[in-house]
Amino acid sequence: MCGIIGCVGCGDQTLTTLVHGLSKLEYRGYDSAGVALVGDDGLQVVKKAGELDSLRGELDALEGVSGTLGVGHTRWSTHGPPTDENAHPHQDCTGDVGVVHNGIIENYQSLRDELESAGHTFESDTDTEVVPHLVEEGLEDGLDAEAAFREAVSRLDGAFALACVVAGSDAVLVARNDSPLVLGIDDGATYLASDVPAFREFTDRVVYLDDGEFARLDADGWRVSDVKGETIEKSVETVEWDAEDTGKSGYDHFMLKEIHEQPRALRQCLQGRVDELGGTVTLEELGDLEPDRIHLVAAGTSYHAAVYGSQLLQADGVPAQAFFAHEYASSPPPDTDALVVGVSQSGETADTLSATRTARRHGAETLALTNTVGSTMARECDHVCYIRSGPEIGVAATKTFAGQQTALNLLTQVATPGPSDRDVIEALRELPSDTQEILDESNAETVAEELLDSDAYFFIGRALNYPVALEGALKMKEITYKHAEGFAAGELKHGPLALVTGNTPVFATVVGDGELARKTIGNVKEVEARDAPVVAVTDGVSDVKRYADHVLEVPDTHPRTAAILANVQLQLVSYYTAAKLGRSIDKPRNLAKSVTVE
Ligand code: AGP
Repeated sequence: MCGIIGCVGCGDQTLTTLVHGLSKLEYRGYDSAGVALVGDDGLQVVKKAGELDSLRGELDALEGVSGTLGVGHTRWSTHGPPTDENAHPHQDCTGDVGVVHNGIIENYQSLRDELESAGHTFESDTDTEVVPHLVEEGLEDGLDAEAAFREAVSRLDGAFALACVVAGSDAVLVARNDSPLVLGIDDGATYLASDVPAFREFTDRVVYLDDGEFARLDADGWRVSDVKGETIEKSVETVEWDAEDTGKSGYDHFMLKEIHEQPRALRQCLQGRVDELGGTVTLEELGDLEPDRIHLVAAGTSYHAAVYGSQLLQADGVPAQAFFAHEYASSPPPDTDALVVGVSQSGETADTLSATRTARRHGAETLALTNTVGSTMARECDHVCYIRSGPEIGVAATKTFAGQQTALNLLTQVATPGPSDRDVIEALRELPSDTQEILDESNAETVAEELLDSDAYFFIGRALNYPVALEGALKMKEITYKHAEGFAAGELKHGPLALVTGNTPVFATVVGDGELARKTIGNVKEVEARDAPVVAVTDGVSDVKRYADHVLEVPDTHPRTAAILANVQLQLVSYYTAAKLGRSIDKPRNLAKSVTVE
C-alpha cells in the first residue's frame, strides 16, 4: 500500500533522502511516486506515474529541485487510476500546500462537493486532494499552518496517515488515524515514514505514533500532540535490526534472500523460549495466560499459518479455530471467553486489525502474533508475541510464514496443560539446521525448469500439510501469475480431480508412513492415472517416491516441523518458476506488502 517518507534537517540532502526513502518503501507496492519540497522558492512538487525511475528521470530533467524539508510518497491506487495527476503529493489551488496520504478518506465526496461549491478546483480523482484544499481554507481564515492542518484533519472520516508541508512554514505536519506512521530521531534531523526501512540507514531511534496523534517536525526537533494540541510524552525506542537487513545482500531478489534467511529467523524465534535441558517452553510475553479456547484471525499467508496453528492446538486438546479476519470482523462468534490471536506479519493489515478490535469490543482477550515491533496490532492487543523474523521486504511472505508456524508451535506448548512435548521440542531445536539442509541441497530449480510450461499447478496435503498446500499455491500464483490451487487431498475426488490433466503437475506432501501418508499416496495414484506429473514433497519414509516424477526431500523429523520444511521446498519451486518466467518477483503486479485498507 502507499508509503510515506518525510524529513526535516537534512539540508542539501533533503531530496536525496526523500528519494532514498521512497526506494526503501517500494516493497509495499505502488504505481506512482512523488515528492514535495519546501525551500526559498516556496513549494515544489514533482510526481510521476509508474516506477520510481520515472520520478528520478523527471527530477533529473527538471534540475534544481531542492528544499530544506519535504515529504515523498509511493501511491497504490484506490481512488482513480495510476496517472501523474493522481500521484501524490496533492496541492491546493494556490500551490502552497502539499499533502501525502496513506489510507482512505471516507467522507471525501461530500467534502469535495462542499469545496467545489466554494470555488476550489480539483486536479485529481483522489480522496486525498480534499486535504490540501481544506488546509487552504484554514490559511485563508488566518490560521497558521499547524492550526489549519489540525482543522482540516478534524473534518476527515476514515483511515489516514497524513503529512503536510506549506510554503513559508518550517515544519512537516503529521497526523495518524488507523494507518501506520513512525518518526525517526537523529541528531539534527527528524524523519517520518510509513515504515522504519525508509530511514533506518540514518537512525535506529524511533517513535511510533498512535491513532489520534499529531506531530510537528521542525529544525528544533519533534513534538507529538493530541487533537487539542496538548503535548503527549512519547518514548523513543531502538530498532533491533540493521540497515543491511533491508538490502539484498547479493541475492537477485529479496524473496530469495528471505527464503535463505529462514534458518537464522527460526533460531531467533526459538531463542530464549525453549529450554532444551528442562524440556520446557516459555513465552514470557504471555504471563500466566491459560486460554480455554483460541480463535486465530488472519489473512492470506498468515491465515494459512492460523489454520496450521489451529490444528496444532486442537491436536493437543485446546479448542481452536482459524477465521478469515474479514469474516470475523463482520460476524464474530459469540464466545467471548476465547483468546483471540491476530496472526499478521505486518501487524497493520486492516482486515486483521478490524477482527482484533471487534474481539476487544466484545470483551475478548487478544494476542498479536506479529513480526513487526511497534505495529498497531502489537500496541493494541492485550499481549504480543513477536516471531522475530527480521524485516521482510518481498511482497510474498516466506520467512515470516515459517516464523509464524514456529511461534504457533511454541504457543501450543504453552497453552496446553501439562508438560511440553519433548519430541516437538527436539524437532524445533533441529528446525534451523533442517531448513539449512533443504536450502543447501534442494533440487527445486530443476523441478521448476521441467514444469515451466504447465497449464496450472495443484498442491495437495492432509492435516498439517493442508495449509502447506494452500500456501504453496498462494505463493505460486502471487509471483508467477500462473493458475495454482491448494486442495485438501481428501477433497480431490469430490471435484478438483476434473481439472487434472497431463499438463497440471500435482505437488503432494507426504510425511511418515501412517494412515494420512497412505491415503495421500492413494490420491497421488489417482492423479498419476490421469497423467499428471507428480512432485512428492517427502521425508522418504513411505514409498511415495515410486509414484513420483520428481521428489523434493525434507529431513525425517516430527510431522509438525515437517510441515514447515515442506513449505520451504515449495517456496523455492515458486521462486525459480517466477524467475524463469521473468516475473517481478519482489513486487508482483496488483499486490501490496501490507494491505492497510479493508
Ligand atoms: C503473502 O505472500 C501475501 N503478501 C499476503 O497474503 C499477506 O500474507 C496478507 O496480506 C496478510 O498480511 P499480514 O501477515 O501482514 O497481515
